[in-house]
Amino acid sequence: MSGRTQAALYAEIDHELSWSERDLPQHQRTKHVHRLHPYLGKFVPQLAERLLTRSLAAGGVVYDPFAGSGTTLVEANALGIHAIGADVSAFNCLLMRVKVAEHDLAVLRRDVDRALAAPAADPPESEWLARWYAPAALGDLAGFCGAIKGSAEAETLMVVASRAARSARLAAHHDLDMPRSPVRAPYACHKHRRTCRPVERADHFLRRYANDTVQRLAEFAAVRTPATVAVLHADARAAELPERIDGIVTSPPYPGLIDYHEQHRYAYELLDLDDRRELELGAAAAGTARRAIDAYCEGIAEALARARGRLGAGATAAIVVNDRRELYDGIARRAGYAIARRDVRHVNRRTGRRAGEYFEQILWLRPRRGARAA
Ligand SMILES: C[S@@+](CC[C@H](N)C(=O)[O-])C[C@H]1O[C@@H](n2cnc3c(N)ncnc32)[C@H](O)[C@@H]1O
Repeated sequence: MSGRTQAALYAEIDHELSWSERDLPQHQRTKHVHRLHPYLGKFVPQLAERLLTRSLAAGGVVYDPFAGSGTTLVEANALGIHAIGADVSAFNCLLMRVKVAEHDLAVLRRDVDRALAAPAADPPESEWLARWYAPAALGDLAGFCGAIKGSAEAETLMVVASRAARSARLAAHHDLDMPRSPVRAPYACHKHRRTCRPVERADHFLRRYANDTVQRLAEFAAVRTPATVAVLHADARAAELPERIDGIVTSPPYPGLIDYHEQHRYAYELLDLDDRRELELGAAAAGTARRAIDAYCEGIAEALARARGRLGAGATAAIVVNDRRELYDGIARRAGYAIARRDVRHVNRRTGRRAGEYFEQILWLRPRRGARAA
């Protein structure tokens, strides 16, 4: 996009894929299960919904190789489209499974109440937990987690515990996305514009998020369809895919921006989840040196190539990305696709350090005929 004038950029924008804060207020962007747990780097459900309706029909099968918090899967299900999502992060897969599962809400309410009534307990041994939590907060979280085993709604309780653990860290309120070091004394809070105190307990977060979770799952149950959803905890380069896929809708990681495992470190530590961070493509920790960028391009191309052989005639892959390094022409070619069309959308960012003009592209890829099947 470099070198283009602002006017030229605006003329290219697909207004159906761009929303202002007024068109699409936060409560709609975070409707039902889309806010079971915060997630840095998710796309708005309304974008997923439009990309799905532009490229697939009810009864079709969509694949999201970088499914993240499951936005594509949830919206596909609501439209009656079967969905398969892969993600290398165990926490993301847990969150996705809970979002799309059919829940027995009476059992959930009973087990949530049991977990909330559990006494504080000893936390798992972890230097990281000891550094990031006040002892009483850790005790609250460990007590709640003790009630997970044996519950038919164990995974939902795990998501509640994770969300409370995120809020109960010794992190400044204005720095919950990527806190650098624990705060152990009252601090000037940029979010609330006053002096705030470090968190001492987690019990109130557990209660609030437990109730919110039950309500959000009930709201999604009202729009949930019988379309199937499969969540694959896998590296997209090696995921086992079905014979036929009718379309891809995805937003891949981008080099140097986010560490997707590290963003939910509290859940890995508290729940002892399987950590596969070394397989993350484009992780911020890998940096943006030439070698890291080359490995990223090769990895994304491999993941897309793997799905290409399964795409039916006329199927497209919609890739949402802010390709400021202009990597995706090469990635598409390498993966055996041609870029059939590019849409540009204006992304509305409202607050703090992420404010400012921001554009994303939607690349519509078509498998190249004659390219070798992966
Ligand atoms: C931009 S996020 C996707 C967000 C998603 N669209 C949503 O709305 O939640 C990219 C995702 O790619 C995942 N990822 C990174 N490397 C991967 C790999 N090798 N295989 C599968 N998933 C991977 C990350 O864990 C992350 O969740």
